[in-house]
Amino acid sequence: MSKRLRLAIQSSGRLSDSTTELLSAIGIRISRPDRKLRMVSEHFALEVLFVRDDDIPGYVADGVADVGIVGENVVLEKNPDVRVLDRLGFARCRLSIALPKADPYSGPKDLEGKHIATSYPGLLGRYFEQQGVNVTIHEISGSVEIAPGIGLADGICDIVSSGSTLISNGLKEVETVLQSEAVLIASQELDPELAALLDTLRFRIQSVLKAGKHRYILMNVPNTAIERVTEILPGMRAPTVMPLATEGWSSVHSVIPENTFWDVIDSLKEAGAEGMLVIPIEKMVL
Ligand code: PRP
Ligand code: ZN
Repeated sequence: MSKRLRLAIQSSGRLSDSTTELLSAIGIRISRPDRKLRMVSEHFALEVLFVRDDDIPGYVADGVADVGIVGENVVLEKNPDVRVLDRLGFARCRLSIALPKADPYSGPKDLEGKHIATSYPGLLGRYFEQQGVNVTIHEISGSVEIAPGIGLADGICDIVSSGSTLISNGLKEVETVLQSEAVLIASQELDPELAALLDTLRFRIQSVLKAGKHRYILMNVPNTAIERVTEILPGMRAPTVMPLATEGWSSVHSVIPENTFWDVIDSLKEAGAEGMLVIPIEKMVL
């Protein structure tokens, strides 16, 4: 029987929706009618394990799972023996220190002697070591943000994404310890069959990530301006040029990095381009 690649993902939480979306974009439909803890994909030799995000690095290190999708913050905190393969560009967040809104703050030295509650004692400990500041770290596993309000700690260090959890608990962010996003991790050693499946999985994920970073652009250009327009377009290859029914005009198509559109639009207009359309790309296989 051929093998299946075992992929551990978060069962529910900040990462799970985007993870499910990414998997769906590469043809792996997640369906968990009875909230099963395992699911076998029909279209890919894959078994998906639904677990707590904090457990994913350990499962991958121990070989319970072959690969995992998890926040880099969790990986760096646990420091497991795994390979971090790809940054996935979603679930961006930061690990930050926060204090009650009214507390004065001018820099890390103000935290000397304070008690800080966190689920990230490893990362926070290293941070204060680098800063040369002495604090007492209280490790708690959840609802960190209520610690100052109930007198358990002076401040907290936790994941901040939109910032609304801090605001609703009367806290303000004062230092960023780490920037994080979802990453793909894998066991140190995989047998050749599983390694080949992992390559396929990564190739598909890259196609989706690249597509998200690019746009398909099309515009009408007088033939006399095609050369100028081609020079302006930050394309991957030479653009496609097709004649329009209107004499002397062409339709020019190209793929551009999504963040360059606003930089080039004025130059394109000046060069004579009209009727520009910018369209999302679903997948990009290079
Ligand atoms: C983090 C953190 C906050 C929330 C912050 O939890 O503990 O509760 O996200 O998000 P906000 O800034 O958008 O309000 P996370 O989703 O990482 O869950 P977990 O710690 O339970 O895994
Ligand atoms: Zn968690």
